[in-house]
Amino acid sequence: MIRIKTEKEIELMRESCRIVKETLDFVGKNIRAGMTTKEVDELVYRYITSCGAYPSELGYEGYPASSCVSVNEVVVHGVPSDRVILDGDIVSVDITAEKNGYHGDACRTYLIGNVSAEKKRLVKVTEECFFKAVDGLQAGVPLFDIGYKVQTHAEANGYGVVRALTGHGIGKEMHEDPSVPNYGKKGTGMRLKSGMTICIEPMITMGTYKVNFNREDGWTVTTADGLPAAHYENTVLITDGGVEILTL
Ligand code: MF3
Ligand code: CO
Ligand code: CO
Repeated sequence: MIRIKTEKEIELMRESCRIVKETLDFVGKNIRAGMTTKEVDELVYRYITSCGAYPSELGYEGYPASSCVSVNEVVVHGVPSDRVILDGDIVSVDITAEKNGYHGDACRTYLIGNVSAEKKRLVKVTEECFFKAVDGLQAGVPLFDIGYKVQTHAEANGYGVVRALTGHGIGKEMHEDPSVPNYGKKGTGMRLKSGMTICIEPMITMGTYKVNFNREDGWTVTTADGLPAAHYENTVLITDGGVEILTL
């Protein structure tokens, strides 16, 4: 069921999303080579709780940390560990915060030190995929136009679009309807409505779009070919005249 948000609910979402954005800015200022992914997670926990919010990934379906920290070939859901971040890595940090009953959700992929031109381009194109998708987005636009735009831009650049995971609605629940795929046919799907809040989150790979799910930890998703992947996400409010990107 898709939940259309009232003006009051949107106000609360703005607050949770502002905390998510500030936390990611804080991570961006502090993340560096030599840190473990667990230390990144500690930064996230500390910042979100200092805002009077809860890092709602913690305990979500048993997830053991406050963030997903995904290095290089890890696409998403990298469980914070003793893995040391190295110079030249690209590191996606995907977080959610809940305050007053509403969630915000966003992800950035950070460049650590001296990153190859190849990986830099992957990160740049992944961000561009998001902005292509929100360009012209407003109430009345067919849902799968989002995926169409992401896929078109990614594949034009020779990259893979992960199919196994998608964006989603968000609000009182971290994951609400509808599912928001990063691929699709132009002009298809339901028409977006004013007051919908959705997460648009391209997951783009340098090689195959196929991924593996780690059976040991139950979470970590890696590229099937071991090549790098990037992830970029924002929580977006659909309005009559356009969108409001709540986590920017
Ligand atoms: N933030 C993720 C998303 O974009 C969800 C993380 S799954 C969790 O949908 F288990 F870490 F919470
Ligand atoms: Co997320
Ligand atoms: Co999300």
